Amino acid sequence: MSTPAHPKGPPPMPTPPLAGGTAGPAALRPLLDTVLDALQQGADRRGGPLPAGGPHTTTARMRTTGHPLIPHTGVGAEHALRTLVTALAEGAADPAHPHCAAHLHTPPLALAAAADLAASALNPSMDSWDQAPAASTLETDLTAALAAEIYPHATTPDAVITTGGTEANQLALLLARERHGPVQTIRGANAHHSIHRATWLLGLPEPTVIPAPTGVIDLTALDETLTRLHHHPLLVTATAGTTDTGQIDPIDAIADLCTTHGAELHIDAAYGGPLLFSPTHRGTLHGLDRAHSVTFDLHKLGWQPASASLLAVPDHHHLDPLHHHAPYLNADDDTEAGLPDLLGRSLRTTRRPDALKIAVTLQALGRTGLADLIDRTIATAHHLADLITTHPTLDLYDRPTISTVLFRPTGASDHTVATIRRTLLNRGHAVLGRAEAQGRRWLKATLLNPHTTPDDLHTLIDLVTTVTDALAEGSTPR
Ligand SMILES: Cc1ncc(COP(=O)(O)O)c(C=O)c1O
Repeated sequence: MSTPAHPKGPPPMPTPPLAGGTAGPAALRPLLDTVLDALQQGADRRGGPLPAGGPHTTTARMRTTGHPLIPHTGVGAEHALRTLVTALAEGAADPAHPHCAAHLHTPPLALAAAADLAASALNPSMDSWDQAPAASTLETDLTAALAAEIYPHATTPDAVITTGGTEANQLALLLARERHGPVQTIRGANAHHSIHRATWLLGLPEPTVIPAPTGVIDLTALDETLTRLHHHPLLVTATAGTTDTGQIDPIDAIADLCTTHGAELHIDAAYGGPLLFSPTHRGTLHGLDRAHSVTFDLHKLGWQPASASLLAVPDHHHLDPLHHHAPYLNADDDTEAGLPDLLGRSLRTTRRPDALKIAVTLQALGRTGLADLIDRTIATAHHLADLITTHPTLDLYDRPTISTVLFRPTGASDHTVATIRRTLLNRGHAVLGRAEAQGRRWLKATLLNPHTTPDDLHTLIDLVTTVTDALAEGSTPR
């Protein structure tokens, strides 16, 4: 007998089905059932805003979920999806839980997550028209529409989609550098760290830092600095919704100073930008359209899964420095023949169609629906502030400007404040942030969940005061 060409072994695995095409939806449906079951099971097992036990317990559990991450023989789609999605959900810090309120870490809307699934299945890549014919139009129209919200009086406003506020701030500084050479950046002490990092990345001079003793840029100090540095090309960066306190720099007054001193202005409205959609709150952004560029995120106060962010400019020509030529993507003859050239709308090449989930959300909710989410979230923050103000053993930093509430137990040391936060994390009871303001450390609740109820807020306060009391009695927190 002759030897078989291939020794007998297990039958070859069938080629896994694809997500797209006419067969894609049918292939996805049972897998989605598995994913949804696993999400449910993980959330049930967790039973709170994050897993109890701290990093040691979570890491150990995650590493013992069964199979090696790269086994010799695969375990199959159903098993891998069920095991890993359940483990991730069980070990998640879930912003959909009302007591998960540390960061600008939004609970995504179900409809936006569903739209993102479609983006994954179709997988358009936004770097050339031949990878994203319809998605290119959607992105072009959506960025134009959002830019027009930000710059309602500009004739050719435009925006590019970014991975977040960090990238949008970097692009803003890059565009300023391309207009003026090595600009001197002037930022508030309250600015997001990405501004400073962008100057490092772009080889710009170290930013000049303006004090922000009340949480917003000190105008007198800004005026003095602009006067002192007037012989340099200057870019002031202001913040509409600071990371630590949610305050909004005095936009109009800063824009006036920039005009007087011939400086340009970038506004990081990563957090506060969507207030534009609320007739009740949009006034707090008055003057936003005086900026040369605006960072605007929808994966914060816009309930989108990451990432969903923009850098907007009043004149589409401001984006010209991003133009780039790569003949396999935007050959001149293709462009002349009418194929849209999208490569210059980002520094990235392969790029997801984040426009889809944003467009689905805006169309589904409309202006009034989005305004309602924003107003409700801000009202919740004010309710928490009320509870703290009337509480006998808690101090409030200030009334919230957007949805950030800073508070601390009366008389607690900074060390105690940090210990309270970590105890709540380790117990899996609450995810609160921390911030330094007025020379002290505060607990930070960044409220982004429009479903949070007054009862949820009462419980959150009880959780904090229970730990505070235990620490005061000398019990060891766990
Ligand atoms: C004011 C501000 N700008 C920029 C960013 C960075 O945004 P991202 O995390 O989306 O890059 C943040 C993040 O919280 C922020 O608070």
